[in-house]
Parts: sequence; C-alpha cells; structure tokens
Amino acid sequence: MTGGGDAPGLNGVIEACSSTLLRAGHSVIGVRDGFDGIFEKSYRDIQLQNIVGLHALAGTFLGTTNRSRIAGREAEFMKNFHELHVDGMIVAGGDGTFAALSAVAPDLKLIGVPKTIDNDLPGTDTTFGFDTACTVVAEAIDALRTSADAHSRVMILETMGRTAGWLALGGGLAGMADAILIPERPFTREKLKHFILEKKAQGQRGMVIVVAESAAPQGEKATIAFKVPESVQSERYGGIAEQLARWIEKECAWESRHVVLGHLQRSRSPTTTDRILSLSMGTQAATLAMQGQWNSCVVYRNGALASVPFTDIQGAPRLVTNTHPWIDMVKTLGIFI
Ligand code: F6P
Repeated sequence: MTGGGDAPGLNGVIEACSSTLLRAGHSVIGVRDGFDGIFEKSYRDIQLQNIVGLHALAGTFLGTTNRSRIAGREAEFMKNFHELHVDGMIVAGGDGTFAALSAVAPDLKLIGVPKTIDNDLPGTDTTFGFDTACTVVAEAIDALRTSADAHSRVMILETMGRTAGWLALGGGLAGMADAILIPERPFTREKLKHFILEKKAQGQRGMVIVVAESAAPQGEKATIAFKVPESVQSERYGGIAEQLARWIEKECAWESRHVVLGHLQRSRSPTTTDRILSLSMGTQAATLAMQGQWNSCVVYRNGALASVPFTDIQGAPRLVTNTHPWIDMVKTLGIFI
C-alpha cells in the first residue's frame, strides 16, 4: 500500500519489494488508493510482468490518498484486512499514513517504508523523493536566472516542504540561489532589504530568491493558502513568494516576479540517488517480511540501511538545524539565509 502525497521512488519500492517476494515464490496483492483500498476492498493482483520498469516512473502504480478516514472505523479496517488472508502489509507512506496506522498497528503485521519529498520524517536521515525534488528546484533556479538577468528582475521561487526548509535549502544550494528563506530561520525584512539593495548597488543584473512555502519574516506567521480537512496536517501553505515579490518592488524599487513550483516537485522521474534508495528500501522491506520481522521499518542512517521499530518514524517533523553543514556552506558562499 502507498499512502500520503506521491514521491518519486514509490514505484521503485513497489517494483523492488514485489519482485523480491514474487521471485521467492510468494504472492503479492496491491492495495489501491491507500486506506480507501482497504475500506472499499479495492485490490490488484501483482505479477512480475506488470511491474517491470515501474521504478523509472513518478507517481504510484497503486494510487494514493492523503486522507485515511480511519478514525472510528478501526474495526472495519481490521475486518477487511483479515479477509485478505495475507501474512502482513508493507506500507510506503509519510507521517499521516503512519499516524493513522498506529491506531491499528498493534493488531496489524506491518513493515513501514518512509517516503516524502519534504525529507522531514524523524528516524531516517533522508527519504526518497527528496533528491529528485531538489533537482527540480535547482533546475528551476538555473532557468529563472536567465529571465532575471534578461529583464533585470528579482525572481522569487516558492518551494514545497510543509514546516521544513530542506527542499528550499537543498535545491537553493544546488542552484546557487542568491537568498534562501526557510521556516527554521525566520528572516528580518530589514536585513533582506539591505542584502538586495547592496547587490543592486554592486551592479548585479538579476536575482533569484528561493522561499520555502512556510517561511516567514520574524514575528510573522506562515501564509496558509487553504486547509484539507481529514488530512493529519491540514494546512496547505502558499502565497509567500507573491507577497515577497510585491514587497521587494515597493521597498527595493526592483521589478519582481514570483513562481510557485508546486506539484512539479513531485512529478519527475526519480534521480539515480532516489532510484537506488527506493529500490534498496523495497528490497529490504521484502526481506524483513520474509524473515517475519513485522512492526519494523526500513530507514537510512549513517550511510546505510537499517531496520528499526515502526514507532521510530513517527513523531514531530525533522527540521533543519542551525548546525547542519549546508547552513555553513550557504553562509560561506555569501548566500542570504
Ligand atoms: O508533504 C508533501 C507535500 O508535497 C508538501 O511539501 C506540500 O505542502 C503538500 O504535500 C501538498 O499537499 P497536496 O498534495 O495535498 O497539495
């Protein structure tokens, strides 16, 4: 089963774990559309011939949803699950999926595979999907710099990431943005204005600023675009890039435009890094299942895969710390952060 927002690499997990299990003589049933599949008894039989080549595609072969609708329906979920007569379930998901599953986890034989482009799950040093999303951000910066320089404008690029700044930081660094604004380091409007005006005075033609969707100036709140009821984290952030563009035009007298990268960050064929990570996690999940090591999850720690208790990937989001080496690097490069 796959749950939560799609992330490049989900199909790699499906292909690798199914292929490993099928070739060892086991049967694999795919649950369609996350939790909905269990409630609606919507499954697909997985055979080797329908999964070959999946790893190269973004999205998820099984479909997904970020609403679990499990509260109050735990017994119905378990009844439908037991009717499947399976040994256990491998689930690739994020914090919402695992929080929802924790309601039934004691009675369910589970193996978790953490996924999110936001890179903010606790218990693992990184998640697949993040590298691909950073690549999309970096390429957008490269492209926007040409237009910024052509028109002598400030271009503001808004990235996803929810309450974490990993995507803006990783992509902004890889694309060498002029400024990177993340929620973990609220910026002061005065310092940002000074930085922009100084660059202008130095004769810089155009500028590219990356802003994480939940970044905000000191003392101000993140901009919420709308809410998704029933989603574990219901706020959907958005709008900060446009606000900043108008503010820069007014305060710095420099023409500005904004771009919201949105779901393009989740829609690219996975990079080699994400392919190898998702294929390794899928293979490891299958191995754990065959060994009967239920209620565990596959994580990536200190440069290697590890299997840890399922509860390790639950909890508060893993945010960017001030001591992270990328923060130092950004500062050394003269990027505003
Ligand atoms: O958690 C992944 C993510 O893409 C976030 O970065 C973003 O805030 C959110 O999901 C968008 O959710 P939706 O797909 O519901 O618009």
